Amino acid sequence: MPTQRPRIFVSRKLPPAIEARLQRDYEPSFNPEDRLYSADELIAGAEQADALLICHTEHIDADMVERLPGHLRAIANFSVGVDHVDLIAAKARGLIVTNTPDVLTDATAEIAMLCLLGAARRASEGERMIRAAEWNTWSPAFMVGTQVTGKSLGIIGMGRVGLVTAKRARGFDMTVHYHNRHRLEAGIEAGAIYHETLEDLLPHCQFLALHCPAIPATEGLLNSERIAQLPDGAIVVNTARGSVVDEQALMAALRSGKLAAAGLDVYRNEPHIDPGFAALPNTFLLPHIGSATRETRDAMGFRALDNLDAIFAGREPGDRVC
Ligand code: 8YV
Repeated sequence: MPTQRPRIFVSRKLPPAIEARLQRDYEPSFNPEDRLYSADELIAGAEQADALLICHTEHIDADMVERLPGHLRAIANFSVGVDHVDLIAAKARGLIVTNTPDVLTDATAEIAMLCLLGAARRASEGERMIRAAEWNTWSPAFMVGTQVTGKSLGIIGMGRVGLVTAKRARGFDMTVHYHNRHRLEAGIEAGAIYHETLEDLLPHCQFLALHCPAIPATEGLLNSERIAQLPDGAIVVNTARGSVVDEQALMAALRSGKLAAAGLDVYRNEPHIDPGFAALPNTFLLPHIGSATRETRDAMGFRALDNLDAIFAGREPGDRVC
């Protein structure tokens, strides 16, 4: 007698190769219109599923975990960040939760460098000027930005993405400083200068890139006190999560000139971000596209499926976070 294939509720439209594999190996429920499901729709989907395959757009807080049906075995995330899932509540319910590390490291580090360069060299202003047909001058003082080459870059969170950003930055002869929960081995550090505290790190950062996870300890980490410790004219890059930044403090520093610019890919309350960011001329803003390459989105999907395969074969999934 054929055994019933596991039922997977897929919250968002995934790349064709991922949906094809889901179709081949599981009983999937797809979202062809890629609509953002409500909490009730997610729960209704979970009622008919053995596992959820979700993105960071689906918030599974403690109340949601409470509402999930008892037969649900797992939540496989199509993301490396898992701040949208209450892991403590999920663990208490015996749910297996997985993520997709490694495969989006390069793509996200590319976006960190794009944000760094875009903010430093005033790329948004230049782009907008040309598109608005407003480019009508050139002078030695025209569109003067901040040179990147040879500057210091401070990295908060020297994990996978932080390390690759450091490597790319060295291509611009940048001196890399970092703060991390633990100092890395010398071979991995590759010459980056470790600072045990943020207070030690910040005065060294002509550029500051945030690569730490969104956890309670990093909530609002870049606040007005810490911004004040950066050198005048510093540039801030955030490709981690919006919650790591006190956004009002960041905008105040961009307005006052304490910070020369910011390059941001992530925000609080995405996609309904604070309109203050777009009103500032010295921001380079992207809509959370850190992992948005064809190669990476496929790899994320395959990684999520490898995790589901392991779970339903009774093996330990490679990327279990709880
Ligand atoms: C993804 C991300 O696009 O994986 C992450 O944590 O922040 C993004 O790059 C998103 O999470 C997909 O769900």
